[in-house]
Amino acid sequence: MAKKTKKEKTSAEDKYRDVVKKYNYLGFLYNATHPGAYCASPPHQVYIELTNVCNLRCTHCPQSTMRRKPQYMDMKLFEKIIKELAPHKPFIDLYLQGESLLHPKIVDAVKICRKYGLLPRITTNATLLKKNLSKKLIDAGLDKIEFSMSGATKKGYEAIHRGAKYEDTLNNMLDFLELNAGAGFPVHARPVFVQEEKTINEKEKYIRLFSKLPLDDIHVSPLINMFGWNKELDLSPFKNKPREEWPICKCPWRQIGINADGSVRACIFDYDSRYLVGDENKESIVNLWNSEKMQKFRQTIIDRRYEEFDKPGLPLCTECSQIWPSNANPDTTQLPQDFCKEMDNFFKNEQHLFRARYAPLEEKKKKAEWLKKNRKEWLKEALAD
Ligand SMILES: C[S@@+](CC[C@H](N)C(=O)[O-])C[C@H]1O[C@@H](n2cnc3c(N)ncnc32)[C@H](O)[C@@H]1O
Ligand code: SF4
Ligand code: SF4
Repeated sequence: MAKKTKKEKTSAEDKYRDVVKKYNYLGFLYNATHPGAYCASPPHQVYIELTNVCNLRCTHCPQSTMRRKPQYMDMKLFEKIIKELAPHKPFIDLYLQGESLLHPKIVDAVKICRKYGLLPRITTNATLLKKNLSKKLIDAGLDKIEFSMSGATKKGYEAIHRGAKYEDTLNNMLDFLELNAGAGFPVHARPVFVQEEKTINEKEKYIRLFSKLPLDDIHVSPLINMFGWNKELDLSPFKNKPREEWPICKCPWRQIGINADGSVRACIFDYDSRYLVGDENKESIVNLWNSEKMQKFRQTIIDRRYEEFDKPGLPLCTECSQIWPSNANPDTTQLPQDFCKEMDNFFKNEQHLFRARYAPLEEKKKKAEWLKKNRKEWLKEALAD
């Protein structure tokens, strides 16, 4: 039998991976619409924190309040996690708190994911994304990159991303996009703008500006009130509701997070590890997904006994905006009530999860050509107030 070329092999692997992922998503939807403490389907997304250290102090992010010890994940531990997860094909998000590009083995982490057939994705502040690193990440097989840039003027961006320089971050992103175009667009790329009062007036410019670039989409993300940190989102009207009217949060049926020291958190937003379910150094993430503590977490949420996770000075679900729908965030993490609606949302909004590219290739090629010729003008417009 003729030996398969690398390209044929990759395409068959991609198809297989996509089928497993769709199957897993259906499993998640079933479990989410019939919630129980035990979750029969594997996690759809696993977040792995390569480091909790960050070079910035963005105003919307609780990084500066984090009490955990600064830590970098050991690469042997990282490979153990990926090996255990490989048969279940979850998406691998290479971040939680901190800035993953600070990890000296970030490129190896991407390669390890690919070696085991998993898709590595990253959200980064892009301040350290120099050309050389961009090239290595693209070559290593990064599947998706999100540039966290919540502003469209120097003043707005730098007021939020404290410690970053607007022009430098823009240039890093443009270099990445040019290299990605040169490689045939293997990495799904998009900027993310967290919508908040301070910069809401920059949203229109942001969309106009970024629409000119060879990106796959532009993500406008709602601000999340993480446990009282983001006062702009007042939760008091919700908190006064009778507890039985509180929604059930879908997160623990969908995703799980591993901290840089290997401790495993039930909720990915729990940046200070209020509720841990185990230790990856001693156990397997696949077992921890349905460990006694993880099941207790789900059951407590089903029973809406949310206050049980609060610790003095460290509230969790009782101070989290994620479950409460608002104008800015209609699609919250409430447990889906309607299977068909959720499926519809899923295929409309989350296609990129399955490597479908929002922007057609021809359109991206044209924009990449445009960028080559007009980079200076684009930067001038970006830097104008
Ligand atoms: C916690 S950061 C970690 C990765 C990396 N340091 C970065 O900034 O991209 C991941 C994402 O969370 C976003 N984020 C932080 N705090 C947020 C909040 N309160 N509401 C919404 N998004 C937030 C950041 O803007 C960023 O896009
Ligand atoms: S949003 Fe990212 S870059 Fe900004 S402080 Fe938080 S972890 Fe750091
Ligand atoms: S309600 Fe918020 S804190 Fe609680 S599990 Fe859901 S996302 Fe996490």
